[in-house]
Amino acid sequence: MPLRALARVDVGAIARNCAVLAGAAAPAALCAVVKADGYGHGAVPAARAALEGGATWLAVATAEEAAALRAGGLGAPLLVLGALSPEELPIAVAAGADVVAWREGFVAALAAHAQPGAGTGVHVKLDTGMGRLGTRDPEEAARVAAAVAAAPGLRLAGAMTHFATADDDPGFAREQLARFLPWAQRIRARHGEDVRLHASNSAATLGLPEARLDMVRCGIAIYGMDPFHEDPALRGLEPALELRSYLAEVKPCAPGESAGYGRRFVAREPTWLGTVPVGYADGVRRALTNDCDVLVGGRRVPLVGTVSMDNVTVDLGPEPPPRGSDVVLLGRQGDERVLAEEWARRLGTINYEITCGIGPRVPRAHHRDGEAVT
Ligand SMILES: Cc1ncc(COP(=O)(O)O)c(C=O)c1O
Repeated sequence: MPLRALARVDVGAIARNCAVLAGAAAPAALCAVVKADGYGHGAVPAARAALEGGATWLAVATAEEAAALRAGGLGAPLLVLGALSPEELPIAVAAGADVVAWREGFVAALAAHAQPGAGTGVHVKLDTGMGRLGTRDPEEAARVAAAVAAAPGLRLAGAMTHFATADDDPGFAREQLARFLPWAQRIRARHGEDVRLHASNSAATLGLPEARLDMVRCGIAIYGMDPFHEDPALRGLEPALELRSYLAEVKPCAPGESAGYGRRFVAREPTWLGTVPVGYADGVRRALTNDCDVLVGGRRVPLVGTVSMDNVTVDLGPEPPPRGSDVVLLGRQGDERVLAEEWARRLGTINYEITCGIGPRVPRAHHRDGEAVT
């Protein structure tokens, strides 16, 4: 009997996507962003696959995520991209992770936790237009860099920014780059060649070659999803994750009979309904009600009726596949595919939210081109 719900993740695909990105970015280094449990794919196996595919750095959002990668045996250079509270600082430092700074007070607090040895690497962030983390003031950012360079136990490892529109407005991304470069080059001239300059996410890595600098930070594309919301195959990327379930029930449905809460599907002609035991608690969002296809028996069938917490219903038509048949909600079956980009379009969101939204009660099974990996 198939598992109720399973996210199958092909680490071979992650490695191949990283090889594509590392090849495109070279000589810039590839930093694989594995925050949010590797965008829902499993952070530790995703990180291992990324390094195998040519990434040389890893990045996460939180101190706990950094500690989890170290506990999983990953020793690669690691950057915590997110803001760190005073309580989180010692966790990041103990994990031997680099951190991001943009205030002098933060540098002083960090220095108090610094450990002897190579020192904690610090990347100073200039906010060139994202309006989120970082300082907008290049002078303040330069003072922060000088404070890092002067602090025992800290090492000025990078100068960075983050693009707001690399996927849909390269003009604004170029303006951000034009604000970043003079400042970053000044920092490097003052503090040496070891200061790594980095700015690009996946979209900029693929779409804005002049922004690759010393390192690119790719998340979405390493998982085989498209940063421009199109078909990932157009850029040589392979989706790594499939979401699978099975037909737990198959039953006839006469005209006038309905399926699901609110009777939002009522049969007009005789058909067969299938019940697939996954729902919004698993990441199949309720807004996909009457607006999604799943793959069963190698063909697309429509999801009909309301998505509930633990079940969805599908219209199997007059010749239903047998109870127990495999169902693919995201991924490929025969010649048909359902991409995260398709769900995202239907839901008015982005592919990132689709795989991050696959709930914790869905087990992840990692394999390499079909062979199970542990
Ligand atoms: C600072 C930073 N760099 C890089 C990335 C990776 O972005 P993407 O997944 O679009 O490649 C993120 C992700 O949100 C980020 O916050």
